Amino acid sequence: MANLRKLQEGIVNSQIWKSIFRVGIPNTNRKRVLAVLGSLILHLHPVKVRRSGVRMSYTWCMGGTSFFLFLVETVTGLLLMFYYRPTIEYAYPDIMDLREQAPFGIMREMHRWGAHAMVIAVWLHMFRVFMTGSYKPPREFNWNVGVILLVLTLLLSFTGYLLPWDQLSIWAVTVGSNMGRATPVLGHEGPGHELIPGLNNVYDARAFLFGGGEIGPHTLLRFYILHCIFIPLIASLFMAVHFWRIRRDGFSGPAL
Ligand code: HEM
Repeated sequence: MANLRKLQEGIVNSQIWKSIFRVGIPNTNRKRVLAVLGSLILHLHPVKVRRSGVRMSYTWCMGGTSFFLFLVETVTGLLLMFYYRPTIEYAYPDIMDLREQAPFGIMREMHRWGAHAMVIAVWLHMFRVFMTGSYKPPREFNWNVGVILLVLTLLLSFTGYLLPWDQLSIWAVTVGSNMGRATPVLGHEGPGHELIPGLNNVYDARAFLFGGGEIGPHTLLRFYILHCIFIPLIASLFMAVHFWRIRRDGFSGPAL
């Protein structure tokens, strides 16, 4: 029992725990009121905003630009869904028609260029955060949320790349996904693959991503659903946490 308590204290007093949970359990009415005030009301309506939080020369507005581009991608992507059909029969001709025939075909170009711009903006934002030392306490938790957002942004680009179903996208995604074979433990050619019995070409991390052994119609459908539903939903969730935490950490600026 004493050991368990010691372990619990060790966890609760560790830097990782404290970076996620700032205050202890609100076990009195006063603490409860303060928790609601701090996390909800003052979060939505802060009594003051730090000058550095809105200064372009400090933030470069790259976080805001990344979010704006995410919204552009959401709106243009939704419009593209009216035309595009994720089957090997129609995917490529639908993309061609979007370029040549469909009204608002420009949406496809906006979606593509917006995706490139978003990747660049997210990298620049991360560079700015690094250069201003904003990864240090108390923002280390938000830095980690940011790393997940970076991975999700790259996954959005990766899954979207296959959708035109042309030679470039098929082979680029084949090369990228082949790395899945070499995933530690989960890939059948990766280090430690022997830890999971029965891994092979049609049953490992790469096959899970592809929806089977080789790239095919199932891969196209899988990437389409990941691209249009799963990854954007998960990214929105992490963005909400990211934005909430920026305010809880006292807006962008040197550590207080
Ligand atoms: C989809 C991607 C992302 C979006 C939409 C986003 C959005 C934002 C916004 C709007 C801000 C506040 C204004 C600003 O500092 O520009 C911010 C701050 C911050 N972001 Fe991101 N971000 C993203 C990715 C990342 C990444 C990849 C990292 C780092 C790995 C990161 C770490 C941080 C940190 C630590 C802050 C607080 C900065 C400070 O207080 O000075 N974010 N983010």
